[in-house]
Amino acid sequence: MTENDFLPGDYQNSPEKGKATWKAPSNIALVKYWGKRPVQMPANPSISLTLDVCATRTSVSFEKRDNKEGFSFDLFFEGNPKADFKPKIYTFLERIEMYLPFLKEYHFTIETSNSFPHSSGIASSASGMAALSLCLMDIERQLDPAMDQASFFTKASYLARLGSGSACRSIKGNLVQWGKHGNIPESSDAYGIEYPFEVNPVFRSYCDTILLVHKGQKQVSSTVGHQLMHAHPYAKNRFQQAFDHLDKLKPVLASGDLGEFIKLVESEALTLHAMMMTSMPYFILMKPDTLEIINKIWAYRKETKTPVCFTLDAGANVHLLYPSSVKKKVLNFIEDELAEHCENGQYIHDQVGEGAIKINT
Ligand code: DP6
Repeated sequence: MTENDFLPGDYQNSPEKGKATWKAPSNIALVKYWGKRPVQMPANPSISLTLDVCATRTSVSFEKRDNKEGFSFDLFFEGNPKADFKPKIYTFLERIEMYLPFLKEYHFTIETSNSFPHSSGIASSASGMAALSLCLMDIERQLDPAMDQASFFTKASYLARLGSGSACRSIKGNLVQWGKHGNIPESSDAYGIEYPFEVNPVFRSYCDTILLVHKGQKQVSSTVGHQLMHAHPYAKNRFQQAFDHLDKLKPVLASGDLGEFIKLVESEALTLHAMMMTSMPYFILMKPDTLEIINKIWAYRKETKTPVCFTLDAGANVHLLYPSSVKKKVLNFIEDELAEHCENGQYIHDQVGEGAIKINT
């Protein structure tokens, strides 16, 4: 598909007002997206598990307006007006206007809330931009009811990417791949696709416990981190490694070989942070407790042979990944050994989910 495929034709309907509500999940990358080129195209392909519990619910009400200058919208986060989110949304609307030409014809009221605590250090841009894109696509479908399901979701992912790269992986369920890869048919830099190869059932119910090590603001945003990959001395090799990791993951995802899965996933997490530590300027997002947890996971795995591993986002929190079959003993391990390294002992249990859903209000 090309950019032109996302430009709509004439709309059949022109409703005076209406509303759309969607809930979109967060996702956790196994092979990481880190580095991009304009506009929001990834430097390398990535793949993620779609989560279930951590999600953003967004409603967009729309009403015809007379003045068609600029965009007009109010924004409420968890029930309260949220002025500091508005510039990001405004930029997003500017970027997507050519694909949704009705945007200036309506005044929008956007109401959004997260299932996870606001200052948990869990990035809400993926689930937030995915939920907002789905609401806007829902409105487009009200204008163009003939739109088919596949185009609806592909375009939602395309728009979400323009809001935040990883958001394009928060539309569909289970495993989502984003970024052109010669060995993955239909893969695209412009949107995420449901992983097209065999996936062992063990991964369909995989668990992710998010250990909230540090809930404060990060010193360096993802946006800045992505930019630092431009002049990065190891960028070329890193991007190639991500391509190779996707190739290596294919038989692992099919067979359910957790030993190999763990190696790839932990290597990806540490490489992501190694890129941060070797950029100029360099930075460290891990905290002492992040390392304590990693060491305890390694010791526990060696001692008990339980297939638990970790991955990291661009922050200090640790995602503990394990199959649902070992959930009971891993929960004891978390309580006994890991919770003490979390801020206020907090963690969130999540698992692989089925993707975004429409909420009928
Ligand atoms: C480390 O999607 O947050 O989580 O495109 O600038 O919004 P922007 O970046 P973002 O980057 C996420 C990076 C990551 C890895 C990943 O999810 O693949």
